[in-house]
Amino acid sequence: MEKILDIISKKMEQAFADAGYDAAYGRVTVSNRPDLCQYQCNGALSAAKVYKCAPIQIANAVAEKLQGEDFSMCQAVMPGFINLNLSDSFLRDYLEGMRTAPDFGVEKVGSGKMAIVDYGGANVAKPLHIGHLRPAIIGESLKRLHSFMGYETIGDIHLGDWGLQMGLIIAELQVRQPDLCYFDPDYTGEYPAEAPFTLSELEEIYPTASAKKKDDAEFAEKAHIATYELQQGRAGYRAIWNHIMRISLADLHRIYDALDVHFEAWLGESDADPYIPAMIEDLKAKGHAVYSEGALVFPVAEEGDKKEIPPCILLKSDGAAIYATTDLATMVQRMQDHNPDKMLYVTDKRQNLHFEQVFRAAKKGGIVKEETVLEHVGHGTMNGADGKPFKTRDGGVLRLEQLLSDMTDFVRSKVVENKIVAAEEVEDTTAKIALAALKYGDLSNQPTKDYNFDLERFAAFEGNTGPYILYTIVRIKSILARYGAWEELPITLPANPYAQELMLCITKLGPALESALRTLSPNLICAYIYELAGAVNKFYHETRILTEEDKELQKGYISLIALAKNVLEKCIDILGFTAPEKM
Ligand code: ARG
Repeated sequence: MEKILDIISKKMEQAFADAGYDAAYGRVTVSNRPDLCQYQCNGALSAAKVYKCAPIQIANAVAEKLQGEDFSMCQAVMPGFINLNLSDSFLRDYLEGMRTAPDFGVEKVGSGKMAIVDYGGANVAKPLHIGHLRPAIIGESLKRLHSFMGYETIGDIHLGDWGLQMGLIIAELQVRQPDLCYFDPDYTGEYPAEAPFTLSELEEIYPTASAKKKDDAEFAEKAHIATYELQQGRAGYRAIWNHIMRISLADLHRIYDALDVHFEAWLGESDADPYIPAMIEDLKAKGHAVYSEGALVFPVAEEGDKKEIPPCILLKSDGAAIYATTDLATMVQRMQDHNPDKMLYVTDKRQNLHFEQVFRAAKKGGIVKEETVLEHVGHGTMNGADGKPFKTRDGGVLRLEQLLSDMTDFVRSKVVENKIVAAEEVEDTTAKIALAALKYGDLSNQPTKDYNFDLERFAAFEGNTGPYILYTIVRIKSILARYGAWEELPITLPANPYAQELMLCITKLGPALESALRTLSPNLICAYIYELAGAVNKFYHETRILTEEDKELQKGYISLIALAKNVLEKCIDILGFTAPEKM
């Protein structure tokens, strides 16, 4: 559906023309004085300079042309603003259009386009920690937003599965169990199907090996060689690698599932590896890749750079590929496989420079097209409630799973204490509320900003929180359930100012989603639903719904709150959580 601002701007432009002025002055904006009007046009102020007359004179002439059934008010005010309110019939028709159109009539601006969202950032064999929370939550939501707006989307976890951590695990395993067949270069048999370690052993082996590398140069060297040999395809190491992948991925799946975060592609750095040699040759042939101090680099500095942008390193002096190399090779692969219009990367903002270098290299080197959109969504840090970096009691990094279970325990105790649901529904209801608390607590902040994790505040049922939004949805659901069949009821004229306010708020869905998409800011969706939930609750408090005796009036109330509920539910789905039946 056409956005209201566009509809009324067209009418305003026509009114400017009808009054003898240039139509271009007729652009309408949302009012910055909602106490006075809903929309406004400031065009007469600029027009006055050109037509050399008083702005109010133009505003009056235009306002006169604009009277009609779409506006309940169209008023020229000093010094020359035109204030507008939509008429009740306009609001009703517009909302009825939203109610009956697919996806509320939101324009599919991404239709025909494809976007790959690279998020999550998980590294194989290392447990997910709280640093992985934000990229998972923000990435999932941006992916869902793109889908809703019409893009074909792929979420790709881009696993860290090819680096030194693999060599470290192999080297440490060899120290502990040197007789395993994987280490025998002459072994020609089948490798065992069972891994020589469990998940919890694996989670202990990596940190041990990583610590050892720091003060044991010989061990570090062994790990580097093992990494190199793995990447060269040594069969025994590849078999260990397969074990690590299988065990680690099963665990990653489990935790991401609990977060309601789902990837369409579970590709990793290892999958990009085969694309590296040809890419390097191509970049050399085009003259982009040059040797500098033994390393192969791609200079990406540009005239006018405000800070120094160092060259992008493609191969270290020992010939090894690094993080940037795999990211570029991954782009080669993605362009070949999917030819996306857009690639989005959600990581910590401290990786800004890396992506700046990689994006420049990709464009200059012709790895992506000139018009391929490459965006890094760099997020800030989640700190503890005291604003300091989040640490466990013994100073370690908190596991993501632990954070989730702390939140779940806290919410469960509330659910049980307040006897919210029957015993058999406690877990499901708890999980939904906990996820809403965690995700909304994160997403309601601008991605780039740091924020403080505050379990109690995030889980509160009042205030600007996920549970408050859920509570609003659940409240509407319960009214609808008590009312009966509500699905087909049409929207009617607003019966009171609260209904009008709520209707106006619902019409802003499309603009809110478009701004969120344009600026890659899920926080704008949070702000929108917080306002919408407020409008619903205000309406509910001021209006007798179930006890209303005028049945026609009541139908209108019901269809209005049902639409509000559907919009809220769609928005939280885009944010990545769902509402329980009861709260
Ligand atoms: N595994 C990386 C890390 O731990 C994040 C990967 C992000 N995605 C990418 N294409 N570089 O920092």
